[in-house]
Amino acid sequence: MKRLLILYMSRGGHTARVARVLMETIREAGHQCDMMDIVEATHEPVGWDGYDAVVLGAPVLYGNYDKNFMQFVADHRDQIQSKPNSFFNLSVVARTPEKATVEGNRYMQKFLELSPWQPDDLKVIAGKVDYPSWGMLDTLMIQMIMKMTNGPTDKHSVIDYTDWEDVKAYGRHLITLAQR
Ligand SMILES: Cc1cc2nc3c(=O)[nH]c(=O)nc-3n(C[C@H](O)[C@H](O)[C@H](O)COP(=O)(O)O)c2cc1C
Repeated sequence: MKRLLILYMSRGGHTARVARVLMETIREAGHQCDMMDIVEATHEPVGWDGYDAVVLGAPVLYGNYDKNFMQFVADHRDQIQSKPNSFFNLSVVARTPEKATVEGNRYMQKFLELSPWQPDDLKVIAGKVDYPSWGMLDTLMIQMIMKMTNGPTDKHSVIDYTDWEDVKAYGRHLITLAQR
């Protein structure tokens, strides 16, 4: 039995849901898995020694990653790299097949440029458009991003672009990663 840890940052809850589905998939396959919010992991002990693999995930927010998330990665690079590891990002541009690949997703490339941690394994996941949950400024900004990328601009749109079967497949893949 392998033990995996998923550390995640989520602004609107969707990355948290992805982390939860990964955790459930791993547990259903008979392995142990915990998930921990990056804010908790920054301020409370993580217990690195109890895990065989570590997975980190974050959404793309205005072309960037949350600064606390990036700080956590920088502060804990050695612990993360000491075992098999994987990074996943969420973005709405990843709704198209060409931007759903590691090479085609410029935000994944940006992560690799910014991060002192170079993950063993990478996964691009399409996120969620949820205008009603966003404030006016975020809505306007994201409408602009969507206009540039031919995405939805209707301020009432709620669209979950995540391929949940693919998320589960990634969860099963993480088990094999932990077995390396
Ligand atoms: C403030 C904000 C900025 C965003 N900026 C981008 C962006 O630049 N490019 C993109 O593809 N998606 C962008 N998104 C979409 C998010 O990556 C997507 O909604 C993701 O599912 C959010 O995950 P979360 O609910 O865990 O925060 C943005 C979303 C928000 C709320």
